[in-house]
Amino acid sequence: MDQGSELITAREVAFAAVNAAFGSLGRICMALDSSFCVRHVSEKFDALAGPGAAARLMGQPIASLLGPELFGPDGPLRLALLAGEKREGWRALLRFGGGGSRLLSVTAARLQHDPHGVCDPQALYLLVLRPAEEEPVEAHGPIAGFGVLFRSQAMARVFRLIESLQNGESTVLITGDSGTGKEVMAGIIHAHSPRRNGPFVAVNAAALPGELLESELFGHVRGAFTGATRDRVGRFESANDGTLFLDEVGDLPLLLQVKLLRVLQEHTYERVGDSQPRKTNARIIAATHRDLRRAVEAGTFREDLYYRLRVIPIELPPLRARREDIEPIARLLLSRVGTRTGRALRFSPDALRALLSHDWPGNVRELENALEYAATVCDGQTLQPEDLPTEVLGSASRRQEKAGADPTPSPPPSEVPALRGVSGASQNEAASLRAALEAHRWNRAETAQALGLSRSTLWRKMRALGLARAVGSG
Ligand SMILES: Nc1ncnc2c1ncn2[C@@H]1O[C@H](COP(=O)(O)OP(=O)(O)OP(=O)(O)O)[C@@H](O)[C@H]1O
Ligand SMILES: [Mg+2]
Repeated sequence: MDQGSELITAREVAFAAVNAAFGSLGRICMALDSSFCVRHVSEKFDALAGPGAAARLMGQPIASLLGPELFGPDGPLRLALLAGEKREGWRALLRFGGGGSRLLSVTAARLQHDPHGVCDPQALYLLVLRPAEEEPVEAHGPIAGFGVLFRSQAMARVFRLIESLQNGESTVLITGDSGTGKEVMAGIIHAHSPRRNGPFVAVNAAALPGELLESELFGHVRGAFTGATRDRVGRFESANDGTLFLDEVGDLPLLLQVKLLRVLQEHTYERVGDSQPRKTNARIIAATHRDLRRAVEAGTFREDLYYRLRVIPIELPPLRARREDIEPIARLLLSRVGTRTGRALRFSPDALRALLSHDWPGNVRELENALEYAATVCDGQTLQPEDLPTEVLGSASRRQEKAGADPTPSPPPSEVPALRGVSGASQNEAASLRAALEAHRWNRAETAQALGLSRSTLWRKMRALGLARAVGSG
């Protein structure tokens, strides 16, 4: 045996020993190479994913197994490993070909190489997996599945429901406040339905006036109205063999509600200006931020249509009712912003606390916008509370006051400079900071160096002391 093959054997033996050790604890371990492809996987993986699964996994990107939401280019576990950080207790849905899935707990770390050179030098990262189905959701890290992250029981219930819909085509009604992710969910339901290879067509009923909406949904024939110079295919027709996502269905005018009811009952409709009935087999997923029950009571929404639509009702709770989801979603969104702009961004503990105390009336969309804003304002890698939009900070300081942490009265929201108002002692600090800044021609880098502060701490102080507005471009 030459030295090379002896080495390979030694490495295999080393991995087998690691495997045996983890295996006796009921864990499956894997090693990944620098491109996040599987380099070693314990045979125990077969027990979880079926005969031959371990062999098939060799050389495959880990994202194909555990999902792009964790290991895609901006996946939080990939970024953590690249940064040399460890993550414990994250959860991922492992999907099998037949539509089944299994919830796993995932721990990931960079491999520390041994001084004897027994470890495979190409194996850079270690993953340890274990089935996690039996555990209560709230005790653990975020769950990745279906392209999103969540941690709350409420969302776990939603996803269990979505999972049970995978082989069906029932009509679904998604309700929830603006920005809770209704459209995202509709896309997920479609992508995991038997129609996944068909079109996903979205129409927003609130975006168009009645006549235009009718032609948008059902199409029209030439001459149906002024300007109808040729026949037009409607969305129901485009969505054949796929899914029609009817957004803001609560805004549908009564006349169109009747027509929609007919489609749901008989799968039949006519183009505007035409008398020939047409068939559609589009599956309907509807969504609204309105309380349809109330609209029925008020006579603005047909009761029969309401029941036809809510065969499978899905209610997305507002973000403030599932605060556990704020952190994983925020981390995912921040890593997306970072990847887009080529920066490795992270939260300071205070910034994260501020995010967790805000009520997010605009839900995930507001969170997304707040992070986009913060990433633009922040000139370092670590987002500080003062990088966040004032309304987010305003609620953080109000909460602190309620908890008795800071008795300083809160300034009106438009003036909230930071977590606290400016007290007498701070005015002294403001005066000396102003002097220091003036001494350095308001150059923040130089001032920070002179004062022995990091640039972000200097910026934070400037904001807190009302000096940020005095700054030009320097
Ligand atoms: N769980 C999640 N993880 C990551 N991003 C999410 C999640 N849920 C929603 N988003 C993002 O939040 C934004 C709002 O989502 P979406 O458009 O689905 O909400 P909506 O309920 O349809 O809102 P509206 O009522 O305003 O139309 C989108 O940019 C979406 O990508
Ligand atoms: Mg929407």
